[in-house]
Amino acid sequence: MEKKVFVTHELPGEVIHQLSGLCDVNVWLGPGLLPASGLREELSDCDGVVCLLTDRIDRELVEALPGLRFVSSMSVGVDHIDVQALTARGIPLGHTPGVLVETTADTVFALLLAAARRVSEADRFVRQGEWRRENRWSPDFFTGKDVGGATLGLVGLGEIGQAVARRAQAFGMRVIAWNRTPKAVPGVRLQSLESVLAESDFLSVHLALAPETQGLLNTSRIAAMKPGAVLINTARGGIVDEQALAEALSSGRLYAAGIDVFAEEPVPVDNPLLSLPNVVLTPHIGSATARTRARMADIAAANAIAALRGEPMPHCANPEVYAR
Ligand code: GLV
Repeated sequence: MEKKVFVTHELPGEVIHQLSGLCDVNVWLGPGLLPASGLREELSDCDGVVCLLTDRIDRELVEALPGLRFVSSMSVGVDHIDVQALTARGIPLGHTPGVLVETTADTVFALLLAAARRVSEADRFVRQGEWRRENRWSPDFFTGKDVGGATLGLVGLGEIGQAVARRAQAFGMRVIAWNRTPKAVPGVRLQSLESVLAESDFLSVHLALAPETQGLLNTSRIAAMKPGAVLINTARGGIVDEQALAEALSSGRLYAAGIDVFAEEPVPVDNPLLSLPNVVLTPHIGSATARTRARMADIAAANAIAALRGEPMPHCANPEVYAR
């Protein structure tokens, strides 16, 4: 019998078109994102799934799918998936590391510069006609914070953190970092988390979301950040306590933030960060260039094709399943 694969969204790239030569492919065409209940129904007779970071594949779902043989996610992060539940069943999980590194580092810098120089705030001011209405321009008009000469602290020094460090060096920033395991990166001084928090004018988060990193930037760590600092988060919302961050921003203890990821996505409109003028907000678009998204989709498709052929996935998040 022909194998069945479900794809939870239409994907860019070329490789995905090869899937239909290998199996029976069913693609969710919307409208909107596939609801969680729909995923369970669609996957009930499937051998594999190609999914997005918006699809939650938890233990309950994995256990309800005895025929599931592989999962391939078009994302580098796999916190939306119960990896242990898959590994326990010997099910490989594909993901897409590497290709989004430079694109995501660009997003970090877009948010960092926008937050430092109040770009979104100024854009709203012009667009809403305030500039004309107030007939104002003065030496202190929309003054921001200098990036050149400032200290950038990286919380996590993986590939994306290192790509951000390279950009920061070109902007004349001093770069310090905390990483769970020691790592030598030219031009980056490794320090304790506490001293990175205390010394950074700009702090950027580059960790995967896992039980050890959930809520890492909690109320006390946010309170330990340098007064007037800017926080950038393009990693995962769950790493930062949003309420504590909003309070630090509205009290003026922190200068600004650039936030691409949220504890709940799409972000609820009553999230306190949405009402603050000094927060630059984007909807989880760290890797969003057409070229990078096509490359990610090609890797996700290649992972699925390998699984269908009974070969190891080229980019597997739980390679221990192959050691059995
Ligand atoms: C993006 O957040 C990803 O994990 O690919």
